[in-house]
Amino acid sequence: MTETRYVTTPIYYVNDKPHVGHAYTSVAADVLARWWRLQGHEVFFLTGTDEHGQKVEKAARDAGMDPQAFTDQVSQHFRDLTATLGLSNDDFIRTTEARHKAACTALWQELAKRDEIYLGHYEGWYAVRDEAFYGPDELTERDGVKYAPSGAPVEWVREPSYFFRLSKWQDWLLDYYNKKIEFIAPESRRNEVISFVKSGLQDLSISRTSFRWGVPVPGDPAHVMYVWLDALTNYITAAGYPDTKAERWTFWPASVHLVGKDIVRFHAIYWPAFLEAAGLEPPKRVFAHGWWTIEGQKMSKSLGNAIDPVALVADYGLDPLRYFLLREVPFGADGDFSRKALANRLNGELADALGNLANRTLSLIQRNCEGKLPAPAAAIGDDVALLDALAAMPGLVGQHVEDQAFHLALEEVFRVVRAANGYITAQAPWALKKTDLARMEAVLRHLHSVLRGAATALQPFMPGTMAALLDQLGVPADARDLAALATPLPGGTALPPPSPLFRKIEIEAA
Ligand code: MSP
Repeated sequence: MTETRYVTTPIYYVNDKPHVGHAYTSVAADVLARWWRLQGHEVFFLTGTDEHGQKVEKAARDAGMDPQAFTDQVSQHFRDLTATLGLSNDDFIRTTEARHKAACTALWQELAKRDEIYLGHYEGWYAVRDEAFYGPDELTERDGVKYAPSGAPVEWVREPSYFFRLSKWQDWLLDYYNKKIEFIAPESRRNEVISFVKSGLQDLSISRTSFRWGVPVPGDPAHVMYVWLDALTNYITAAGYPDTKAERWTFWPASVHLVGKDIVRFHAIYWPAFLEAAGLEPPKRVFAHGWWTIEGQKMSKSLGNAIDPVALVADYGLDPLRYFLLREVPFGADGDFSRKALANRLNGELADALGNLANRTLSLIQRNCEGKLPAPAAAIGDDVALLDALAAMPGLVGQHVEDQAFHLALEEVFRVVRAANGYITAQAPWALKKTDLARMEAVLRHLHSVLRGAATALQPFMPGTMAALLDQLGVPADARDLAALATPLPGGTALPPPSPLFRKIEIEAA
């Protein structure tokens, strides 16, 4: 049955150019969106940029630019990156757009109408870098400067502020986490969020008066909305809010918000509370992935080691990068990025295991079968185990993708690819040409089936290369979804001469 599915990335701050950490969330979201489309679901995939707040205002000032001109420029880098990464996003939202300001205003008015907002005074610690408030017990002090747990310096802020009655939602949140086990993943983050909420929630300051770069508070324009209230609202803006009759509103609540572990608190505590308080449904799931270090070091602007994803695509190709990001590290865990590790995955798994299997099989069909696909054949002997594993593979991949366990999903495909490499060596179809032509054809047909299954299931991960492989396998464009795997290609289908899918990289030069 066709269902609606909605996946989001965080909207990225435009204080700086995109790096590989941003590319990571975006690629993961793209894989989910593409996998769901392959299953036949109706999908909405959203990404975009977060353009208000003190941090962006400061970055614009440092660049000597007007904030709007500055955000126009940096946001464009993120928009360009969606093309470089081959993202299939259905929309790209900017928080400076009129539709978004309208949604923020409407949400605020709804919260005010329901008495979820009151005017008071904020006095406390604020980290501009995180755009977050911290309690005194969360801070550490070095050389007279206080720091948040993220390492960002905090400053003392005292100003009039509107507050959201977050404390009132504490029990509701705990109950919600209990009832919806799948709401926060992975488990470690769920525990972290639950213990934070159990330790007691304060009402949340949701407006600022000390700077101007934000959405004005309705009826009190001396205040601008707190950037996280503004930012989180993007997920419903794009679904049409406040027009809950809009066609896109059928996608709400979101199936999953993919976020980094540093921003899980905003998505798993504030966001469902805002929504519930406004009478809207909370999202179904928040998945927090880990952080990449670079060759063992924290990636940071000051260390100057932030990796530009555009350069990586130029050096290794897009699909090897996409594959590496999701294969190297379990989604949810931290990982280390190194060029050597990327080259190893590319050479060993993509070029050797998958690329060679395709090349050997397709070259043999070209040479020994006049480039025509052999007819479907019955499975005998060793064929049975290989084809059984192949038949089970898409279902297993699907389960892992649904859990956002992308590395396990890839492992399921490569398990079958490795088995097929063992099978081709054992069956030696090149030798069968002289001894048993019918068996040679059957073996090549089974190998073709494995390649078709693998290429189909890998499309969300490596769309360009797998499209090329499916072309070489003679699979028509309308027979590339998961359901089409049930219908074998007719024997005699003409296959084009094969060409290599992956270019190996010298490890030393990597
Ligand atoms: N603007 C907010 C999100 C608002 S969503 C309503 C924000 N932006 S960000 O640009 O700072 O970060 C965006 C995402 O990039 C976050 O999910 C963050 O975890 C991720 N990453 C930033 N550095 C990263 C790594 N080194 N590794 C992996 N992900 C990283 O937060």
